[in-house]
Amino acid sequence: MDKFIAQGGVPLKGTVTVNGSKNAALPILIASLLTDGECVARRVPPLRDIRAAQRLLEALGKKTVYENNSVRILPGRRLSTAAPYDLVRRMRASVLVAGPLLARFHEARVPLPGGCAIGLRPVDIHLKGFEKLGAKIITGQGDLLISARKLRGAKIKFPFPSVGATENIMLCAALAQGVTVIENAALEPEIDDLAACLNSMGASVRRAPGGKIVIEGAPKLSGFSHDVMADRIEAGTYLIAVAASGGKAQVRGCVPEHLKAALSALKKSGAKLKINNGVIAITGPARPAPVSVKTLPYPGFPTDLQALWMAYMCRARGASVIKETIFENRFMHAAELSRMGARISVRGGAAVVDGVDALSGASVMASDLRGGAALTVAAVCAAGESVIRRVYHIDRGYRRLEEGLRALGAKIRRASEEM
Ligand code: UD1
Repeated sequence: MDKFIAQGGVPLKGTVTVNGSKNAALPILIASLLTDGECVARRVPPLRDIRAAQRLLEALGKKTVYENNSVRILPGRRLSTAAPYDLVRRMRASVLVAGPLLARFHEARVPLPGGCAIGLRPVDIHLKGFEKLGAKIITGQGDLLISARKLRGAKIKFPFPSVGATENIMLCAALAQGVTVIENAALEPEIDDLAACLNSMGASVRRAPGGKIVIEGAPKLSGFSHDVMADRIEAGTYLIAVAASGGKAQVRGCVPEHLKAALSALKKSGAKLKINNGVIAITGPARPAPVSVKTLPYPGFPTDLQALWMAYMCRARGASVIKETIFENRFMHAAELSRMGARISVRGGAAVVDGVDALSGASVMASDLRGGAALTVAAVCAAGESVIRRVYHIDRGYRRLEEGLRALGAKIRRASEEM
């Protein structure tokens, strides 16, 4: 197991370039199950979750090759419709194989995703959507058995704009007969990236006013060659890290429109921003003004930046309130930040952060992906040495976060943990 060792307190300076988006890449890789054609996803970061998706596709019968930031997916043996438990339990996004398998083979067997560190995360919205398309669902031995004699397009109204459910229904309806309309669909840009990929395969997926997505089913889809969008959460992570360190740097290769809520909060905190052609130049304040945020579905403040915002607010000139409305247990980083001298009290879905003059280095432990990134950013800003353990959580979603921060002048290195 690896750990990070950081000597904090250096204002970050320089340039960092963001990678392709993990959350966009995962459903795009899974879209390859809709076809026997060759599929190539480019700008795919080499992450633990991407390797997990490759293993899942291989277990289902595809061949995959990762080379030069691209994943090439080729037909292998006859596809299986049963996803193995051991792979699904490691990554919730694995449940997305249900949609394409159901569409192509009229059956899918997918283990019920278990609870995970940041909350219960049920899949009821996905399943109700499949039922609307004509599927029957039974559970047995911990698996969901989803089958349909015929899939027919339908009107599906989501009670909540779930990202995963929107993707799963899009992946299924792309090959169903007739027109499917998802109402209250997720507005996240990763959904549009998946739609663009599906359309390049011959599908017809478009947004319609009022939060709708309209999918006209096609009888057959071909392979794809697709460039994955920039990772807005990675971009947001670096921007917050620079601001929190009181530094001055450029974040390149991002789509600033995808970051509106975070950029507006950064401005309110006193950071100076200049945006030009996919490059965001940021100058952090000596100490930020307190800015309260509430996580919401896109275009609201992203839950995936909530932990990072909390790390930033630890040194604010006053108190801020951070409300988490998407996941019920996403404040595990708060107790670890307190070990670094932060003053945070959590009550239900809200955390009150009383800014302190400075954080001090400490030994802390990552317990989830974004919480782990927040501890790393706090460590880079804190006075003295910090050790962040369980870096494998961070490696699920960041391509060598320590190298990106080091490119900005942070004193941080990776070391192996003796067991
Ligand atoms: C995706 C992202 C994740 C991000 C989240 C919200 C990927 C791989 N992951 O996760 O990084 O934090 O969107 O922006 O893209 N819910 C239900 N029933 C369902 C589906 C969801 O109750 O059937 C609940 C979940 O428990 C959660 C909330 O809705 O509390 C949001 O879930 P969802 O939008 O589906 O997120 P994911 O697709 O899992």
